[in-house]
Parts: sequence; structure tokens; C-alpha cells
Amino acid sequence: MRDAEPHPVRLSDYRPPDWLVDTVDLDISLHPTASRVISRLALRRNPEGQPDAPVALDGDGLTLVRLAIAGVPVAGGAFEATPDSLTISVPPADRFVLEVETLVDPTANTQLMGLYRTSGNYCTQCEPEGFRRITYFPDRSDVLAVYTTRIEADREEAPVLLGNGNLVKSGPIEGTSRHYAVWHDPWPKPSYLFALVGGRLAKVPGHFVTASGRPVELGIYVEIGKQDRAGYAMDALKRSMRWDEQAFGREYDLDVFNIVAVSDFNMGAMENKGLNVFNDKYVLATPETATDADYANIEAIIAHEYFHNWTGNRITCRDWFQLCLKEGLTVFRDQEFSSDQRSRPVKRIADVRLLKAQQFTEDAGPLAHPVRPEMYREINNFYTATVYEKGAEVVRMLKTLLGEDGFRSGMDLYFKRHDGHAATIEDFLACFADATGHDLSHFALWYSQSGTPRLEATGTYDGEAGTFRLDVFQSTPPTPGQTDKKPVVIPLALGLVGPNGHDMPLVLEDGRKVDHGVVEITKHRQSFVFTGLGARPVASLNRGFSAPINLSNNLSAADLVFLAAHDSDPFNRFDAIQALALDLLKRGAAEGALPVPDDLIDAALRVLDDPALDPAFKAQALALPGESEVAREIGTNVDPDAVFAARKALRRAFAEALADGFARTYEAMATSGPYSPGAAAAGRRALRNLSLDYLTLPGTPEAIARAQGQFRAADNMTDRFAALAILAQHDVPERRAALDAFYRRFESDPLVTDKWLSLQAQIPEAATLDRVRDLTLLPVFSMSNPNRVRALIGAFATGNPTQFHRLDGQGYDFLADVVLSLDSKNPQVASRLLSAFKTWRQLEPRRAALAERSLRKVADAAGLSDDVADIAMRSLA
Ligand code: TRP
Ligand code: ZN
Repeated sequence: MRDAEPHPVRLSDYRPPDWLVDTVDLDISLHPTASRVISRLALRRNPEGQPDAPVALDGDGLTLVRLAIAGVPVAGGAFEATPDSLTISVPPADRFVLEVETLVDPTANTQLMGLYRTSGNYCTQCEPEGFRRITYFPDRSDVLAVYTTRIEADREEAPVLLGNGNLVKSGPIEGTSRHYAVWHDPWPKPSYLFALVGGRLAKVPGHFVTASGRPVELGIYVEIGKQDRAGYAMDALKRSMRWDEQAFGREYDLDVFNIVAVSDFNMGAMENKGLNVFNDKYVLATPETATDADYANIEAIIAHEYFHNWTGNRITCRDWFQLCLKEGLTVFRDQEFSSDQRSRPVKRIADVRLLKAQQFTEDAGPLAHPVRPEMYREINNFYTATVYEKGAEVVRMLKTLLGEDGFRSGMDLYFKRHDGHAATIEDFLACFADATGHDLSHFALWYSQSGTPRLEATGTYDGEAGTFRLDVFQSTPPTPGQTDKKPVVIPLALGLVGPNGHDMPLVLEDGRKVDHGVVEITKHRQSFVFTGLGARPVASLNRGFSAPINLSNNLSAADLVFLAAHDSDPFNRFDAIQALALDLLKRGAAEGALPVPDDLIDAALRVLDDPALDPAFKAQALALPGESEVAREIGTNVDPDAVFAARKALRRAFAEALADGFARTYEAMATSGPYSPGAAAAGRRALRNLSLDYLTLPGTPEAIARAQGQFRAADNMTDRFAALAILAQHDVPERRAALDAFYRRFESDPLVTDKWLSLQAQIPEAATLDRVRDLTLLPVFSMSNPNRVRALIGAFATGNPTQFHRLDGQGYDFLADVVLSLDSKNPQVASRLLSAFKTWRQLEPRRAALAERSLRKVADAAGLSDDVADIAMRSLA
């Protein structure tokens, strides 16, 4: 809680810690409302710190019970304690053991940071600044210590007691109803990686032997009765462990690895050393309750958290400005893992869609910030698409520039040089520079300059000279606090596609061949002349989306149709269709009527009928750009109703022109036999359900009956939910019937009712806002559970553009009210919801004024959390 503006923390103010902690001995006695925490810190003055600095420990809402030095209670005048800090101005020596006892109330902890309860179990979340809500500590990521944790609890209430590292001993406490467990983690770690769990949980066991022969006992802990839902997560974990050995040479380093699934969690999951804690949405799956998308997310997030063991834990961040050092790199690693496990091109397409939808939008609005920010008021607000997704793109570009071997040697050096340390982006880049001899000083700008670079490319063919000239011009639009932008290093993968559909050789004027099809752009303007071309090529630029840029070029619609049919780069085949569609949608939104999209229909038909293409690829290529992507492309004066209408018209045109194709595909893509979550079967379902969507669009009784038939007959959640989502787009009696049937069937399963809530929040019709309000009153909804809030309110604000942006401003008012009432309970979730306003400046004036009014209402409210105050302030700046 705050009374004034939260004060800024700056990267340039970084100072090494004054005191280090060698070991931490914790003794934590769990109790629902008064958990006792005794912490013994072996403190040592840091020779690199300020001389004579006091011991200053962080706290957050703590109750101090007792303070002792070397076993002797410290006199009242010798220290100063508030709920938020503990200071010893005159420490007794340069090394001493401080004993601190605090009391915390896990039941009252609704923020879900620190020690809290979920479904009656105890768990912790410490990243980034939650450990200080458990005990006083130098709660910063560059203080690495070896932790030993004794956990004690009632045997009935918490038969399972888990901590970081390896289990040392455990047993009953004789003569009482309590028991204990001692865990020791030999790897020095920052406090944000601390975790403990206590509760009534069932263990799903597993076993893994590392490449060098270390046996590891695996455990996934779930609520009792849900054991049959953890099989896929366990399988994904084993595959992740093997993959990190093979792809990066990284082995696991403890005797046990545990995962706990909890139902109240602010984010996706957390990589605590040896004890990952997960939002149960990313662990639990059965074919009847989880969709293909859920399975893919589980695989990716299990991998992500496991990969943090090296990128994040063994090598951690010096400070929170370096967050992308672990997050961007680990997202890159999980993307590569999923690409290897599934289809690389389809994974790339999905990742780029997400990047554009979330990160490009962020970069184009008031919340834009560099991959490595230089200032924050609330670090919780920087777990963003920019840090995660753009951070991953920067690592990917590094690999593109250095090549497979250069990248691997840089990573090897990074693991060798910084193991056991808290590192910076400079440290990371220096490893690649040293390992390959590449100068990366210009490349480093990707970390400090915000905004999405634009690249305007113009290709000119000279038939007489047999040359193709590519002129490029790069610029980056201004972003908050950064008006002057410099050119960045853009690795532009490209090909010149000849009339026969094959790539032509890439030979520059000086006779040099272009390495691996990648040219490096470093200046505002550059030209490349390719020679020896006997026919006019079509330029395929930014293949595989080699750089996270907004590219425009002078390709004609016919060129795009040609690329969609022939490009050897699957990403650009996909992108050619999307570019054609975007152009039509932009024009449709501006002019109110849609030109007949012959070129696009042609291109789509060819993709649909190409037997050589992966169904999953077809499903991506034929799914039109979303409303938010179109809005972002339009950029200013956006009218969400016009965007919706244009998209609807184009969908109609597709449905009509490709009706036979979709009907054939719907039949051909039927799967038989038991459900498999694998990429091949999932791809067939995706294409089949996309076809069903288009086939249902006319809304005829037969079409509705087909969707209803699939809804009823489905033997898996993917097909059942796809049919329900399709029916939900049509205002017919069958919709209500299906929604009700679905609810009755899954009423007792929160993860499934979340889908049901989201679906209804996203219906693009005027009645939706009232429906959302009504749904908040149902017993399956709760404002205290982040998954429920995101499923209903989050889906409304970010997944229903026409209704959130209602012309009467009621969508904005509703969100502002929810944010204000949630803020006192869970500021992190509240501030995430509020960032749905991040595109408000792109709106046409009436809506922009209404959105601004709602944002101001939030900003002006008394007693806001730092989290919400920061987002409100920056959104309005
Ligand atoms: N580090 C986590 C990850 O893997 C995310 C995270 C950061 C988090 N802060 C959190 C998770 C708070 C839960 C709660 O990306
Ligand atoms: Zn992460």
C-alpha cells in the first residue's frame, strides 16, 4: 500500500551488497495463522561493499518476535525494526550469526507472495521479492547462500513436507501430533529461489538417470485424487531433462526433483531450486479435460522451469534489471525444445503470432520498455512480453548471427565462466564475443533500445544486367522516454525465389556468396545487389522471422500468392497469406466494404489442397489475423467495430469460396483410435476444427447441427470445446443448450469451468457484459483465485475487443471497478488486468476519451498498490 508515488529504482544505481550471507538455517513451524520462522544467517561483510555499512535487511509486513546475535538477545536500542526493514547500525563484527524470529499469517496472505495457503496446503512464492514476507533478509538476487530448511507441521494437516535440495532427515516429533523434515540445498542460491510446501498431497513418482549416471528421484505432487492427471507432465519432464543434456550439455544436479501443482498461483510456474511450484493449469491434463493447446503449454512450461535450473539458478541475475538474462534465454530454450519435439515451422509460427499479439502491442503503447529496462517502480510489472518473448528473439538473433557452432561455444563458455554467480547481460554477451571473436557492441542495443524497428524494403530487378537490388531503410518509432533511435543490427534471412519456385543463388556484386542466406543490416539505409539472375525473382524476406521487426516491402499481391505457393521457407508461406489478409482487413476496416479477395482465396485454396503440407501448418495459415493484430497494424484512430466487421466479412468470403474444400477437409481430417496429444494428431484436429468453424459460419440449421453433433459425440476436450466455441459464436438455441450441458458435465472441475467462463466472456455481442457480471456471481467463480479472474475478466478485457471497447464506455468502467476492488486483495493480478488498457491511445477519439476517463478513475483512487499505481501512471503518461 502506498500514499505517494512509488519511488524509482535505477540500473545505474546498482551497488554490490554491503553484507553477504554464507549460510541460511531456517526452522519453519507451519501454522494456519501464526507460522513461526526462525532464521540463522551467517553474515559476512562484503569487501566490495561500502565500508562500515550497517546490516540492513528487507522485510514486508513482518512481525518481529526475537533477535539474537550468537545466541544472545540483542538489546532494544541496538537495532531498528519495522514491518518492512531491520537495521543493525553497529554490527558486532565483520562476521557473525544473526538469529531472527518472525511470525507470519499464511491464511491472511491473499497476495500469494511469500508463505500462503492454497486449498488448505502451505506453499511459498518468493520471486521477485516474496522472501522478505517470510523473514528479514538481504532480499536481492546477488546474495547467494547455502540453505538448510527444517519444516515442522501437524502430521494430519501437512503429511507432505518439501523443501529445496535433498531430504536430509524427517520424522515424528515424539509426544506431539507434529512431524518435521530437514532439507539441504548444496547449491548457493538467491532468496527468490527458496521454496517450501506442506500439505495433503499425492505423489506421482518418476525416475531419471542423467547422462553421467546420477539417479534422480522425480515427484509431481498434486491434490489427492488428481494423480491420473499428471502423467503427461511427468513425461514432458523426462524429455526436458534428456533434451537439455543433448542440446546444451546440461545435466541435473540434485538427487531429487519435485514439482508441486497448486490451484492458487499468480503466474504460470516458478523454478525454485529442486522444487518447482506450478499453477495446476500447467500440470494437470487428461484427454477429457485438457485441449491440445493445454498439452502443448504443459510441455513448454514444464520444460521452461526445468531449464531454469541452469539458466536462472546455477547462473542467476545480478539484479532485476537483468531479468531477461534468465527469462529471455529460458524462453528461447523452451521454444527450441518444443520445436524439436513437435514441428519446427508450426512452433515458429505460433511463437511469432504470440510475439506480435503481445510484445509488438506492448512496444507500440505507453508501457513500452527495453528488454533490459533501466528504471522501475514496481518490478512485478516487468514480467512482460518484452522481457520474455522479445528477450527470446534477441537470443535467437544472436544464434542466427553466430551460427549453430558459434552460439553453442558461447553458451558453453557462459556456463563455465559464470556458474555459481549472479551475472549481467554484459557478462552474457562477452561470452559470445570471446568465444567467437565477434564484436557484439552494436548488437547489444537490442537490450537497451525499446520499440519495434521498421524495415522498408524495396526490390528492383534489372533484366538486362541480371541483377536484383534490395534497398532497405530502417527506423524505430519513438517510445516513452526514448525519442532518438539508432539503427540496430538486423540479421535478415532471405531468399530470391525464381519463376520455377526454387531459390536462386545469392551472389553479391563483389562475387561473395551470402552465408546461410542471412545479410546483416547495421545502418539506417543499405543496399544489396544480387547478380547473375537470368529471371525476375520474388524476394522472400525475414525468413523464419529472423528479426523481430515490422517489415514492409514492395511485393505485389501476385508475388505474395506466388510465395504462399512456392516459398521454401514455410514461415514466409504462412506470412504471405497473412499479409494478403491483413491488407484486405485494413482496407475493409477503413472503407466499410471488402473488395473481393480473389488473390487470397487462390492462395488459401492451394494451401488447403497441398497434400505435402502439415495439417497443423494449414490450420495456422488459414486462420486469419486476429482483431488485435489488425488494430495494431492500423495503428491510429482504431474502431474495433469496423475491424470486427471487416474480419467477419472476410471470414464469410472464405467460408463461401472454400466451402467444398472445408467440407472435404473436415471429413479427411477425422482421427480414429484413442486420443493422442502428439503434434501429428493435434494438427489434424486443429485443421478439422478450423474447417468446422468456417462450415458453421453460414449458420444454417444443417451447419449448426453438424457443430452440435461434434459437441455431443466428442471423446476429447479439444473437439468438444472447439465445437462449443463455434456454437457460442451463433445466437441460436443450440448454443444455450450446449453451454448448459457443458457446465453440468464439468461443474466440479475448476480448470474446465475456466474454459467455459472464458468462452462466454468472449462472445462478441452486446449482451456479453451483463453475462460476465452474472457469471461473477456463480459459485464456480471467485475473485480470490487468479485463474478464475483471468478466465472471466481477463478474457473479456483482452479477448473481446468489440465488447471491452463498447461505445458507451461500460466495458472500461467494469474493468476499472474490478481492478479497484481486486487491488487490496491481489495487486499483481489487478495490475495485469489493468494493462488491458495499454492500447488505448490507438483508439478513435470517442473511445480513447472514455478509456482515459476510466484509467484516471483508477489512478486517482486512494490507497492503490504500487503495482496498480505504476501501470495506471505509465498508461496515462
Ligand atoms: N520465474 C517465473 C518463470 O518461470 C515467473 C515468475 C516470476 C513468477 N514471478 C512470479 C511466478 C511470481 C509466480 C509468481 O517465468
Ligand atoms: Zn521463466
